[in-house]
Parts: sequence; C-alpha cells; structure tokens
Amino acid sequence: MRRKLIAANWKMHKTPQEAREFFKSFFSEINSVDQKTKLSDREIYFFVPAFCAEAAAQSLSANASQPGSSMKVKWGAQNLFFEAKGAFTGENSPAVLKELGGEIALVGHSERRALFSENDQLLAKKVRALQDMNIEPMLCVGETLAQRQAGETEAVLTAQLEKGLELARTTHALVIAYEPVWAIGTGQVATVEQVRETHAFVRSKLDSMGFENASLLYGGSVKADNAKELFSVANVDGFLVGGASLEISTWMPITTAGL
Ligand code: PGA
Repeated sequence: MRRKLIAANWKMHKTPQEAREFFKSFFSEINSVDQKTKLSDREIYFFVPAFCAEAAAQSLSANASQPGSSMKVKWGAQNLFFEAKGAFTGENSPAVLKELGGEIALVGHSERRALFSENDQLLAKKVRALQDMNIEPMLCVGETLAQRQAGETEAVLTAQLEKGLELARTTHALVIAYEPVWAIGTGQVATVEQVRETHAFVRSKLDSMGFENASLLYGGSVKADNAKELFSVANVDGFLVGGASLEISTWMPITTAGL
C-alpha cells in the first residue's frame, strides 16, 4: 500500500524562532489527537526554509523522545543542489541536510521552475542525486492555466515526468506532487473532477514507468474545508500545502483530514 503523506511547504516564511514556536504548538496538538485516533496511517512532512533547518531538527528530535507517539514526522529542504559540496555559491548541500537529520526535499516546485529558471534536465539530476544520498525527493509537476486551456495538460505532465524522472531509480524512495500552477496560492482549487481525472492520468503514467510505490500528492490551495473531500478522491495519497500550513489553526484540520 502506498504511504499517505501530508506535507507543509513553508516557502520563504518563518524565522527559526517562529519555527520553534510553531513546532511546539503543533506537537502539543497533534500528540493529543494521536493518542485518541492513532495517526499511524499517515506521515507528516515539513519543508522548511534553509535557515530553519536546525530549529526543525531540534524540535522534531525533542518530540521523538516523548514516549507513545505513533506519528512519523519528517523535515527537509525546499531546494537542494545535486552536488554535496564545491564551488556553488549560494546553493544548499544535501550532505548538510543529512548531517542535521533532514530526510526529504522538494524538487522542481513551480516557483523554482518559474522564478529561478529550473528546467527538467536540472531536476532530473537533483532527483537522482538525492536518491543516491538516501534523501527522499518530492518532484513537483503541474500545468499553467494557459496550458490547461489549450488542452495541453497531459502532454505537459508527460514531459515533466519523463524528463524529470529520466535518471530516477525505481528502487528508491520517491514522491510526486501534482500541483496545477493556476491553483497555487490563488485560492482557486481544482475541482474534485479535475483532481480525479488528472491524478488517474499521472498515476497510470507513474505505474507504466515503474514507480508504482511512489505516493502521489495533490497541491494547490488545499484548505481545511476542502481537504476531506480531496483526500477521498481516488489516487490522492495526501497533500502538499503552502499558505494553510503556516498557522496551526488552518494546518491541524488538514493533517487530520479523513480520520
Ligand atoms: P498553496 O501552495 O497551498 O498556498 O496553494 C501550495 C504549494 O505551493 O505547494
């Protein structure tokens, strides 16, 4: 069975101090939910800003030492380079993430593609390098509004998956997040029918490429009031959440969606 994941993408929000405060409140809330319902059916991921790495690492390890928690919570980076070290000014090293205890990383979020010109060839190298270092990559794919309106959604997703996963190992951990670009940060969530149709397409593409075990998440304006319905859609294994992951009040109902 594929793993269920609820992932927070904090983007360029929160200072280390704010991150510590968030984690303190989060763990106190989630541990009490966990005692009642056992959240063992899902994992919770946090993609934190690079400067919050140590705050995340310390917060998670302090919680892991509490007895009785059945949850699996992991933290990781929003962007890593494909080399572990070298003359790459300004890049983030996967080796540093590992030393700090990070286990996961986003690859090719639409903001990286659109604002920082990351292309599929670069992303393919990152996916492979992270897998080789036992960091779980979460490759993001998705079409723009113009591409959807032009009927190009399936062609765009096919190209992003084929090129982005060109070097990926089927034997290693991998997660895919389908995020229609027009739904990210806009409040314009895809309809249940659009999510069902596109997830079925991406799922069959992944299966045909040998990635049957990769979980497939939906992202784009996921909120407390649509999470439950979206979670019940076939081939939706969880969410990648931006805006609504920043506040405890909006994040908690998403982490417990469908319980
Ligand atoms: P959003 O962002 O939930 O704010 O739409 C999702 C994302 O960018 O991953």
